[in-house]
Amino acid sequence: QARKLFDYNIVLIGFMGAGKSTISEFLKTVFAMEVIEMDQIIAERQSMSISDIFETYGEEYFRDLETNLLIEMQSKKNMVISCGGGVPMRERNVVEMKKNGRVVLLTAKPETILNRVKDNHDRPLLEGNKTVPFIADLMEKRREKYQAAADIVIETDDKSELEICEELVKKL
Ligand code: S3P
Repeated sequence: QARKLFDYNIVLIGFMGAGKSTISEFLKTVFAMEVIEMDQIIAERQSMSISDIFETYGEEYFRDLETNLLIEMQSKKNMVISCGGGVPMRERNVVEMKKNGRVVLLTAKPETILNRVKDNHDRPLLEGNKTVPFIADLMEKRREKYQAAADIVIETDDKSELEICEELVKKL
């Protein structure tokens, strides 16, 4: 059996559209690491889209599912955990991700985010709110918690996937 590359998890956090899923897929390809895409697992387990979970059960219910999944993942190693954008807002979640993970914050300007999310319709917080001022405002509200949770920060504007991953590996 191959030796595990990292004896911790790489936990990717950041605003919607910051590139967490894209970079996860890249790390999976390069390092053959297992990826936990939190939104995807939650949607699969509930057999519902994220939008339908929000609509049917409300945001708090979704947030509890996130916390439970995060706790479950901290018993593992050598995983890439791609968090939903709201995960670092709960203090408990940050404690959990820090137990066994190197927390990597991906950032991007509101204009870049808007460009990346404009054609996606499974982000209930952004539906009907796809404007630079709305994104900038929500980003500002989250900034402090994102920064406090992060061990490593990487700006993603105007960088290729490869450049972002190279920077990440150097900083790990
Ligand atoms: C959310 C981000 C989404 C998803 C949900 C809520 C948020 O994930 O978890 O729509 O509160 O920022 P992505 O960051 O993968 O878009």
